[in-house]
Amino acid sequence: MLSNLEPAKKVMRPGRHDPGPATELIRLIRSPQTDAGVERLLSPPDNLGVDMGRLSGQVAIVTGGATGIGRATVERLLDEGAGVLFTDLATSAGAEALEKLGGHGRQLAFVPGDVRDRAHSANVVSETLNRWGRIDILVGNAGLQAPGRLIDSTEADWKNTLSVNLLGLAWSCQAVLPNMIERGSGSIVAVSSVNALTGFAGMAAYDAAKSGVIALIRHIAVEHGRNGVRANAVCPGATITEFHLERAAERGVDAAALRAGMKGYGLLGRAAEPAEIAAVIAFLAGSDASFITGQALAADGGVTATGSSQ
Ligand SMILES: NC(=O)c1ccc[n+]([C@@H]2O[C@H](COP(=O)([O-])OP(=O)(O)OC[C@H]3O[C@@H](n4cnc5c(N)ncnc54)[C@H](O)[C@@H]3O)[C@@H](O)[C@H]2O)c1
Repeated sequence: MLSNLEPAKKVMRPGRHDPGPATELIRLIRSPQTDAGVERLLSPPDNLGVDMGRLSGQVAIVTGGATGIGRATVERLLDEGAGVLFTDLATSAGAEALEKLGGHGRQLAFVPGDVRDRAHSANVVSETLNRWGRIDILVGNAGLQAPGRLIDSTEADWKNTLSVNLLGLAWSCQAVLPNMIERGSGSIVAVSSVNALTGFAGMAAYDAAKSGVIALIRHIAVEHGRNGVRANAVCPGATITEFHLERAAERGVDAAALRAGMKGYGLLGRAAEPAEIAAVIAFLAGSDASFITGQALAADGGVTATGSSQ
């Protein structure tokens, strides 16, 4: 296991009760939409309301935490005071994330490995318990987006997509549940997709796997609610991660052009940033969501409100 512990430094982040930007947003919504006003509404907020103490003393595992939404979630949970152990197949990206996020006295550790491997999940739990003695939160985020229509896809496509996105989540949940049940408390948040809530072209196995994620989460919520375990899914819409930025760069498209290309997306006219999805995950993970379980929460910029991404 790799780990990184440094002396505490103060992290300057706005508190979640800071009324400034929210008030401004309301003013913008109510005022006639000048061009400047419209542009402001199309940008993600720069204050996502981090409460630095909300998860203090809690311990979280995040799968697929080296990049993208997972990495933003690791950062968010750290910012809120949790100790975080993250896992990822990508060893060097994980080591880099550990290096970048592990300062400021934060409690952070990285265990490389493959969520498809049941023994890896058991090892992750052992490492977490050895280190902190408890598991409060599991964020089952590791996944891959596999394109392909049913009519064209191969057995290998299906096995790979289902085993990472769905079976890997099942192993992660199976591994953390005994500690959560024993302690009578725990919160599991799985990253599904807007593709599980509405029909999309071209991603048959992925859509089926992400629908399975919601079914699995409901199963856990039903089976273990009386054990004090909550289980919920987040269903992100299009989110601009390093993966998308790198693919775009290969096509000669820079980040600004990529974001501009999403201006027709959903009701907000933009894709999400990873930190916005991480904020929803952190909300569901923590006690502000103490009466929410068995739910699939869309964080999709309104795509499912209209039934169309355009
Ligand atoms: N980005 C989007 O638009 C979007 C939309 C909806 C849902 N999602 C879901 O969000 C989650 C995170 O995706 P992302 O967009 O941040 O992509 P990403 O590729 O940046 O992150 C996924 C992470 O999972 C890791 N991973 C992949 N296979 C693994 C395995 N077998 N074992 C361990 N780790 C593995 C990758 O190395 C990577 O670090 C995924 O479940 C994805 O399906 C993403």
